[in-house]
Amino acid sequence: MKDSEMLSFIQGLPKTELHLHIEGTFEPELMFKIAKRNNLEIKYADVEELKRAYSFNNLQEFLDIYYAGASVLIEEQDFYDLTWAYLTKVHEENVKHVEIFFDPQTHTDRNVSFEYVLNGIYKALEDGQKQLGISFKLIMSFLRHLDEASAFKTLEQALPYKDKIIAVGLDSSELGNPPSKFKNVFKKALDEGFLTVAHAGEEGPSEYIREALDLLKVGRIDHGNRCLDDIDLVKRLAKEQMPLTLCPLSNLELKVIKDLKEYPLLKMMEHNLLVTINSDDPAYFGGYMNENFWGITKALNLSKSQIAELAKNGFKASWLSPNEKQTYLKEIDLYLLNN
Ligand code: HPA
Ligand code: ZN
Repeated sequence: MKDSEMLSFIQGLPKTELHLHIEGTFEPELMFKIAKRNNLEIKYADVEELKRAYSFNNLQEFLDIYYAGASVLIEEQDFYDLTWAYLTKVHEENVKHVEIFFDPQTHTDRNVSFEYVLNGIYKALEDGQKQLGISFKLIMSFLRHLDEASAFKTLEQALPYKDKIIAVGLDSSELGNPPSKFKNVFKKALDEGFLTVAHAGEEGPSEYIREALDLLKVGRIDHGNRCLDDIDLVKRLAKEQMPLTLCPLSNLELKVIKDLKEYPLLKMMEHNLLVTINSDDPAYFGGYMNENFWGITKALNLSKSQIAELAKNGFKASWLSPNEKQTYLKEIDLYLLNN
């Protein structure tokens, strides 16, 4: 099949994004624009020099640059513009529903108010729903390199906004910061009615995935690649139909895998794992949803029905209502039939 035919199949497929850090959508052009209006310096001369710095050997090397980039976000309008730029981009890619992360501590630790961050992002999401037809849920992530007390403080700040924040998550430097470090704050979040998710098994061992399930009671595992080291865990994830939000281009850029051709997606699908395709930090890793779908399609020679299956998994793994899910699943079946 011609590349152009597959690309247009991916483009037209209704998609959902379940693993996306809004700070990771900060494109260099917008970063320079916002830095300028906030009178802040970026330590790179221009967009080209900044882009050249986007070469990472591991998660930490990426995080250092990602936090530096996010540090020019100050005003509510900055968070609005960041989120709006993301939504217009994925609208072009036929993404219908997004469940995105934000990292409040990255901003509140710089004395930016929690309300500015939340309101800026949320207003853009509401406008995206109204003007672009993209439905959404918002997930507040705790930074795992910070202590649990800081996460508790952040949870306190979120309590008045339970109507806007559906879940809490866990991201940042994984190794040495196991889910167990946050079991008390996740317990409190669950008691307060939040859903939970956590990054686990990206660089960390499969044991971290077990901790996320057993101690944090997560409803999805973000990444989860390392589950394959533990066949009993794989069986459990399959039996529970616990979603894994995979991010192929991220894994490639952060050297979680050497080559997309080695991506264990088909093995995961054979094990009946509920795997979904996502973009993580698209401004840094070379692509949004379509580029992630295209990357693995080309590397693994996926068929249209396998691609459609992955898109369906995204809707199944989302927090849309059963009716909304059914509508999208039928739409994808019909799309596959006609394309
Ligand atoms: N892993 C952990 N933390 C992150 C990531 C990631 O891929 N992206 C942004 N924060
Ligand atoms: Zn992530």
